[in-house]
Amino acid sequence: MEQQQVRIGMIGYKFMGKAHSHAYRDLPMFFPNTAVPVMKAICGRNEEGVRQAARQFGWEEAVVDWRELVERDDIDVVDINAPSDAHHAIALAAARAGKHLFCEKPLALTLADSREMLQAAESAGVKHMVGFNYRFAPAVQLAKKLVEEGRLGRIFHFRAWFLQDWIVDPEFPLVWRLQKEIAGSGAHGDLGAHLIDLAHFLVGDMTEVVGMSDTFIKERPLPSSMTGLSAKGSSDGPRGEVTVDDATLFLARFASGALGSFEATRFASGHRCTNSFEINGSKGSVKFDFERMNELQVYFTDDAADVQGFRRVLATDPAHAYADAWWPPGHTIGYEHTFIHEVVELMDAIREDRQPVPNFRDGVKCQQVLEAVELSVAEKRWVNVNEL
Ligand SMILES: NC(=O)c1ccc[n+]([C@@H]2O[C@H](COP(=O)([O-])OP(=O)(O)OC[C@H]3O[C@@H](n4cnc5c(N)ncnc54)[C@H](O)[C@@H]3O)[C@@H](O)[C@H]2O)c1
Repeated sequence: MEQQQVRIGMIGYKFMGKAHSHAYRDLPMFFPNTAVPVMKAICGRNEEGVRQAARQFGWEEAVVDWRELVERDDIDVVDINAPSDAHHAIALAAARAGKHLFCEKPLALTLADSREMLQAAESAGVKHMVGFNYRFAPAVQLAKKLVEEGRLGRIFHFRAWFLQDWIVDPEFPLVWRLQKEIAGSGAHGDLGAHLIDLAHFLVGDMTEVVGMSDTFIKERPLPSSMTGLSAKGSSDGPRGEVTVDDATLFLARFASGALGSFEATRFASGHRCTNSFEINGSKGSVKFDFERMNELQVYFTDDAADVQGFRRVLATDPAHAYADAWWPPGHTIGYEHTFIHEVVELMDAIREDRQPVPNFRDGVKCQQVLEAVELSVAEKRWVNVNEL
């Protein structure tokens, strides 16, 4: 039987653009039983830059106008990797044109915009996926399985922290991630969004939150160039105001009765990308740290007393999600594989005519918690998530 082909049009060609391009390229080699992504066209504003990216990443064509791209008859999926302020307009236009949607997180700048995106996708009857890639690490999938099968018992605590340090230097330029009108929020929407999604995935809905937040460095030099998490700028040049949080912390109560604590910061010196969580239950606990993403620390209360303790499980055996497609046990995988697994889910969903998971509903749910925390910070009080 001939394999289904899914034609992709992608917007944005830098950090996430490269990660998604790589996923499309690698997928058919390791996951031959799903639909095949066809890398039709990549879009960016700089003609020369996007042409170079198309050549380097393996796209058939480079284009500069996303409005034309989303209308094309030879595109099935619009993959949105532009900064967050662009997601809403692109998703609405692409849904109207009947395209499936794959959008990076956070879904939009506001809860209202993200709800409109979900509504547009549902009215158009298209598939919609949001880029919470950390769900797709096999060790995280193992944590999910242990919770779902009741092997950790009743869950008491979800404790999560996402720590980076790339803007500790006050002379680091004012990149788009530090501007509210482009990014929506700072560490909160960038890093905290991943923690919130992992909490939803692993423990379920939250009912109420209370948060605190700060911006440690209020002004920075304007950048002369930027991409992803890097930028150039001069200390002698003009400066601009930082309009997002540098760090946001919050507490949460889950519908299940579990308690949650969350910390997202770009000021944790020495932490490059420490995306971690712990879950403590009546029968055991798990601990995950993205910098050791192949491992899950697992503890069971019913182990014999003389060998009790956390054990290191390497999630690379055939017993683990996605591991069969890769290398022999113990041969580890990396960051880029989370995106490949994410795209496998998108291709499977299109082939099986179902919604992928996580989808825009998960994106909206995340945005609701993000905004509930912001409201809590502004009004210095507990906020019920359903107020929003
Ligand atoms: N899943 C993750 O872990 C993760 C990691 C990083 C970024 N992100 C998200 O991905 C998105 C992009 O972030 P990034 O780090 O790749 O940014 P980036 O600055 O590296 O790249 C942004 C790209 O978008 C293009 N672009 C901007 N405006 C455009 C427009 N109007 N039309 C066409 N192209 C446009 C730029 O030319 C550039 O190619 C953001 O929403 C971000 O929050 C997610």
